[in-house]
Amino acid sequence: MRVILLGPPGSGKGTQAVRLVKKYDIVQLSTGDMLRAAVAAGTDVGLKAKAIMDRGELVPDEVVVGIIAERVAEKDCENGFILDGFPRTFNQAASFDELIGERGMKLTAAVSLEVPDEVLLGRIEKRARETGGARADDNAETLKKRLGVYHAQTEPLIGYYRDQGILRAVDGTQDPDAVESDIEKILEAAAA
Ligand code: AP5
Repeated sequence: MRVILLGPPGSGKGTQAVRLVKKYDIVQLSTGDMLRAAVAAGTDVGLKAKAIMDRGELVPDEVVVGIIAERVAEKDCENGFILDGFPRTFNQAASFDELIGERGMKLTAAVSLEVPDEVLLGRIEKRARETGGARADDNAETLKKRLGVYHAQTEPLIGYYRDQGILRAVDGTQDPDAVESDIEKILEAAAA
């Protein structure tokens, strides 16, 4: 199973990815987590990415495509993966199609988690309180920027995957168990 989770910041991509990897024995590929790990480790990529992430902007396509290309080539991805936070631009989506096409792979589905902006702000503020502000981009001002970037650059990918016939939408305002159940129904139908 090879799945893309699309959705704005705070829509529940990470929450659902963690649940799905357990159920389907696949791996979670979160570019946000990979970039935060690079920042924490002080690698060249991390040093370049930190200020961009703190501003709520996108890290350059070539950087994230490079990270994902290396990761997808690893053995543990053979059984399938769930992409959380990638792709975020047309360029990333097209590069990824090429990448998996060369490996003879196809996407099972692109699941779009639909949550209105006003609900997202409440979730991000709650997470910031609960984690003691562990993420520098979890504040009202940077969230506004992240949402703007999402609507301008990532939301159009909904049409990109709809044109490929693999887009499925889920109401992400439901409780996490209900969201998970909807995604599972979609994936089981798509894989059948
Ligand atoms: P990234 O780490 O991908 O962050 P994001 O997309 O902004 O998403 P979040 O992690 O904030 O939210 P989520 O949708 O995973 O929701 P979650 O499950 O955590 O990216 C961070 C930055 O890295 C980017 O801004 C960019 O700079 C860079 N980057 C990453 N990928 C990149 C790429 N491909 N290209 C370029 N740059 C890239 O849930 C949020 C909260 O809500 C949690 O507290 C959770 O408990 C709660 N919650 C979840 N589901 C529900 C529910 N159903 N009901 C109520 N609460 C819920």
